Amino acid sequence: MDKSIYKNRRNSLKNKLPKNSALIIPGADLQYRNADSSYALRQESSFYYFSGFSEPSSVMVLINSGEKIESLIFVPQKDKLKEIWDGYRAGPDGAVDEYLFDQGFENNKIDELMPEALQGLEKVFYSIGKKSGFDQKVIDWTCAANSKDRHSNSIDIIDGSSLVGNMRLIKDEHEIDIMKKACDISAESYIDVMKSIKPGDNEQGVEALFLYEFAKRGGRFPAYTPIVAGGESACVLHYIENDKDLKGSDLILVDAGCEYQMYASDITRTFPVGGKFSKEQLDIYNVVLKANLAAIDAVKSGNSIMEPQLISEKVITEGLVELGILSGDVDTLHKEGAFKNFYMHKIGHWLGMDVHDVGDYMEDDDFMKFKPGMVTTIEPGIYISSTMDVDDKWKGIGVRIEDDILVTESGNLNLTAKVPSNPQEIEALMA
Ligand code: GLY
Ligand code: MN
Ligand code: MN
Repeated sequence: MDKSIYKNRRNSLKNKLPKNSALIIPGADLQYRNADSSYALRQESSFYYFSGFSEPSSVMVLINSGEKIESLIFVPQKDKLKEIWDGYRAGPDGAVDEYLFDQGFENNKIDELMPEALQGLEKVFYSIGKKSGFDQKVIDWTCAANSKDRHSNSIDIIDGSSLVGNMRLIKDEHEIDIMKKACDISAESYIDVMKSIKPGDNEQGVEALFLYEFAKRGGRFPAYTPIVAGGESACVLHYIENDKDLKGSDLILVDAGCEYQMYASDITRTFPVGGKFSKEQLDIYNVVLKANLAAIDAVKSGNSIMEPQLISEKVITEGLVELGILSGDVDTLHKEGAFKNFYMHKIGHWLGMDVHDVGDYMEDDDFMKFKPGMVTTIEPGIYISSTMDVDDKWKGIGVRIEDDILVTESGNLNLTAKVPSNPQEIEALMA
């Protein structure tokens, strides 16, 4: 695979990283499920974004020398025996030849070599407080670099989260192509699973079907643990027990998305297990759908991220009043936040390599404005648990509809529109 895309991203830091500064990015370490059984490595997103490199326990240092971006990487050493058991390692030479870094080193030399690399710089950027133990490492390397050169100013340590996050917030063409594919895989998987669901199925079986449908299309892992919630379980926002039988009279809320080539998709659909919405289920569903569509319309370059938020709150407040679930003046209820008992989360979040992706939500002391290349989820919901003080007929209904929206020059593109959210289309699909 062409690795120049990652090198170009490193080089583009030339205009973002101050001169005479370094950006340090640690990669992921292997995680163990039990004893010596490890999970498959999931590389740390920013590390992968700037390297395309997927070996564990690696660290990258990108230095703006003023002339250019110097790229250094510390990687696992070549080791014949380890390679027999665990597979190919690029080693320092491979990191240079295959991944186009300027210099590669064995990661066991990092404590010795990092202070030399940092010596004489003015600033060191890294994501403070994100990786256990790494803060102390950076302090130690920086102190060692300072003590090598007592006649220079000491090096400032600065949080680099926004610098990297806001770069990743605007997706380039390569990323958009991958995200479209991730969303297509998830959307096609939804359609196949929705067609097959029937009363008596177990949530766990439905989860397994999603994982199978993702994997067979190239998305081996889900981007997050799927939520497969029949009936009232849908009112538990982060329900992941996924172990109950599904009743024909219930709705099922599924929040599932594959990860494809390191990029997440994130879809929620709520549909009737028995294939037909009841009157009350449809009433609630239609309010959420109206909020979803109106909020998607507000995702436009130049609009504040608060616009879809406020629109979804207003549509849901109005809908709950029309159904008699809330009573009073819509504007007053909205101001008082009465909707929050039913719609208690935000409209969405940035989407990218991480499902809750990096990138700031504020800029210049105000809410961020949408710009082309951003991808956000739009996911309004209404959740009425049986403990709420409402007419019994509404109890146990939980609905969320979530789509992934790319901001374009001229408006937006719904990357997950292939899965129907229109209730008639859902019923037709499930018939
Ligand atoms: N699937 C996680 C979320 O919707 O935020
Ligand atoms: Mn989401
Ligand atoms: Mn979701």
